[in-house]
Amino acid sequence: MLKSVLSDGGLKALAYDVGPGRYYQPAYRNIASAIDLEAGAFLDIGCGPGWLSIYVASGKPELDAIGIDINEAMLQRAERHKGTRLNVTYHTMDAAQIIYPEGTFNAVAAVQSAHHWTDTAAVLEEVYRVLKPGCSFYLYEADAEASEVPDGWIQRQGVFPPDAWVLRNWKRYGMDATRWEELKQAVRASSFGGGEAGRHGFYRRLVLTK
Ligand SMILES: C[S@@+](CC[C@H](N)C(=O)[O-])C[C@H]1O[C@@H](n2cnc3c(N)ncnc32)[C@H](O)[C@@H]1O
Repeated sequence: MLKSVLSDGGLKALAYDVGPGRYYQPAYRNIASAIDLEAGAFLDIGCGPGWLSIYVASGKPELDAIGIDINEAMLQRAERHKGTRLNVTYHTMDAAQIIYPEGTFNAVAAVQSAHHWTDTAAVLEEVYRVLKPGCSFYLYEADAEASEVPDGWIQRQGVFPPDAWVLRNWKRYGMDATRWEELKQAVRASSFGGGEAGRHGFYRRLVLTK
């Protein structure tokens, strides 16, 4: 147990879970509201501590949410967070090799995961394959160039996290205009062929429809 916590993936999962995974709670709720799925199947790519799937599936017995991630320590944390919810499951899986059949999902999301992908083209093709026709892939990345923290997106305990901390993390782990353009180019070259680019809160967002 201690060995798995102290591994590289375990330390990353711990740091994320007690930091952003906690203070992004309003962000996960806002994204779940935007996805606005009542029934069917939802896939969260690079689900990390699993919160988005929990919020998407909460109070929706007709909906099944599946989170996938390559970091098993993250998934152990996600399992803890989901508690007894039966309509949320997590699996170790590379988004570039999704095991589900064509046309399985009513919506797919990836929040703060795309900047990690080593084969973005493969992930985009896999997501296109597993989406049902007419359904969408919601791709969110924090805006590395954001200069203020919008109201209603970060949960604070006292003064933590201060704006400067949050902005520094977006600068470090978010996408700047150049990387965002590269992602949009990869989308144009994929089976999606393009999508709707915009913003939601402090995120740059792409909505790609099959
Ligand atoms: C910064 S975390 C974001 C976690 C979560 N989406 C959130 O917003 O809290 C990025 C996650 O993407 C996962 N990831 C990176 N590449 C992946 C891949 N090819 N397939 C599945 N998960 C991946 C990482 O292991 C990590 O847990």
